[in-house]
This record gives sequence, structure tokens and C-alpha cells, in this order.
Amino acid sequence: MRTILFSSQNYDRESFLGAQLPAGIELQFQAARLSLDTAALAERHEVVCAFINDDLSAPVLEQLAAGGTRLIALRSAGYNHVDLSAAQRLGLDVVRVPAYSPHAVAEHAVALILALNRRLHRAYNRTREGDFTLHGLTGFDLVGKTVGIVGTGQIGATFARIMAGFGCQLLAYDPFPNPAVEALGARYLDLPELLAQSQIISLHCPLTEDSRYLINQQSLAHMQPGAMLINTGRGGLVDTPALIEALKSGQLGYLGLDVYEEEAQLFFEDRSDLPLQDDVLARLLTFPNVIVTAHQAFLTREALAAIAETTLHNIASWAAGQPQNRVHG
Ligand code: NAI
Repeated sequence: MRTILFSSQNYDRESFLGAQLPAGIELQFQAARLSLDTAALAERHEVVCAFINDDLSAPVLEQLAAGGTRLIALRSAGYNHVDLSAAQRLGLDVVRVPAYSPHAVAEHAVALILALNRRLHRAYNRTREGDFTLHGLTGFDLVGKTVGIVGTGQIGATFARIMAGFGCQLLAYDPFPNPAVEALGARYLDLPELLAQSQIISLHCPLTEDSRYLINQQSLAHMQPGAMLINTGRGGLVDTPALIEALKSGQLGYLGLDVYEEEAQLFFEDRSDLPLQDDVLARLLTFPNVIVTAHQAFLTREALAAIAETTLHNIASWAAGQPQNRVHG
């Protein structure tokens, strides 16, 4: 089973080579991102293993199918970047890793909250410059604060447990309430109510047509002035120019992003020698109360090992005619 892993980094190579390789699977690591320009590299590979910023739109899938590919094995949980109806039309199966470590992502969301609140990014730079002053570094106690969780599946529920441990009040919004989150004392509300009552809002829902730009100019106006917004879900959940306006007016007090709508052209690459062409991201990065990480919430040893193991298992079971973790259009 010839398998090409697009967008593979050194840490992918280590985790896949460290996992038990099922018989008959041959791995080729490819640093390039999958796109129309690079799809030819997959020729004669039955399996294309892709990550979140690979292009799996209809034209790319058509080229992959024409080159002999039959399975798209996603190394991610999210599959919003795959044109599933095109895959179905072309006879391409799609499998994913439904859960690898909800802790990795939930803990990163908490890391962003703590860093923004206690302004660790500013303190770190200050002390390194020999500036030991404290002005501008005042934070707030998390205990007793109200945290709104949008999407209470595996990651949202894990995040809820951690925030309950801090002594926060929990509010939640999800079309399918999770009894385990209710058991923590969380109250399910509609989205405008959640936004109006929360001091911290964290997004943990998938990107779908319903959730695109869930946070926009209107929903930002529902929030408490100075609220904190954390997005480790998908970039398209928020209208980024609207966030910039809310930061400028002070309506949004803190912003932690691990995902960005236009990240595909930027994230996972060292572009430090190049002028940043994305003016929206450039503006975001000027705010002292904004932290952007480059889609690293998943990046723990445990999550990488689980991604490799499940992906190899997905490929082997598909090859044995018993596909698992299939994504349906
Ligand atoms: P999950 O499927 O366990 O939970 C998602 C929850 O969101 C479900 O309870 C669902 O009912 C709810 N939901 C769906 N549409 C909604 C909407 N419009 N509003 C509110 N809730 C809605 O998924 P899981 O594993 O918790 O992952 C959540 C998302 O986190 C993924 O879809 C992915 O986009 C993102 N993610 C980000 C990572 C990162 O490294 N930054 C890594 C892994 C996942």
C-alpha cells in the first residue's frame, strides 16, 4: 500500500516511524503541501495521507483519483477542508482520526487563557530586556469567572473539566448537550445569552456552513466589554476583520488564536525572512492583548503518537476491506 504523507514535518516522520508499521504499508514523507501544483507527486500512491492545510478540493481530488489514489487518510479530526461529495463521486474513501488527544487541544486553550490573562508574553520579553517593572501586567483571578464553551464534544468537555477545576462557572452552547458537561454544573444557553454572560469564551465546535463566522460583528456586540475570546477550533469560525475592529474599540479585551482562516499559506513554515503579505494577520499581531500560535494545539507527544497509530490502523483496515473511521459526505 504505497502511502504518501503530504505536509509532513520531522515530528510526523518520528511519530510514524516510531509506530508499529502494519505489513504491506510503505511510507513516503513529503514536506510539500498538497495542492494542484503538487498533486502529481501522489501518482501511483493508493493512499494520500493529508493534514489540515492540504488542499482537498474537487480539482485536486480529481487529479489524485486519475493518478491511482483510492484512499484519503486524514491525520486530523477535522475534515472541513475535504470536498466530500467530490470524493464520493470519484470513488475515493476518506478516513480520519476522530480523537487523538482532546487534552492536547483543551490544555492549549487553557495555556492561551493563562498567558493572556497574566500577560506572560509581555513579562517574558520584559525581564529578558532587564525591565522588571509590573505596569500593564495586572491580571484577574480565574476563580468565580464565567466561561462560555461553544461546542462541548470531546475537546470542549475536556476544557470544561479543566476550567471547573479553576473554580469557574460554566456556560455551554451546543445543539447536542453533553450530560458529562452538565454534570460539571454547566448551564446550556443559546449563543447570544452565552456571549452576554461570559467573561471568557472558547470555541470548540467544528467548522460547518452553520458555524462559519459564528463570531462576527453582531455576536461580538453581544459580548461583555473586555471579554476574552479563544479559538482553537478553526479559523473560519470567526470573522477576523470584525475581531480587529472589536480589539480597536476595546469591546474585545483579549484574543487567543491557534487557528486563522488564511493559515494554509503561512502556518507550519518558517517565513521569518519574508515580508508578511497578509495585512489582516499583520494588524492582529500588533495588538499587545493578542496571542497567535500557528495551529500547534494538537502538538503533544501523546497526540502525535495517537495520530500515527490510528492513521496506520485506518490504512491497514481499509486495505483489509474493513474501513474504520470513515467520513461520509
Ligand atoms: P467533537 O465532534 O467531539 O465535538 C464537536 C461538538 O461541537 C459536538 O458536540 C457538536 O454537537 C458541536 N457543534 C457542532 N456544530 C456546532 C455549532 N454550530 N455550535 C456549537 N456547537 C456545535 O469534536 P472535537 O474532537 O471536540 O473537536 C472540535 C473541533 O476542534 C474540531 O472540529 C476541529 O475543528 C478542532 N480541532 C483543532 C485542533 C487544533 O490543533 N487547533 C486539533 C483538533 C481539533
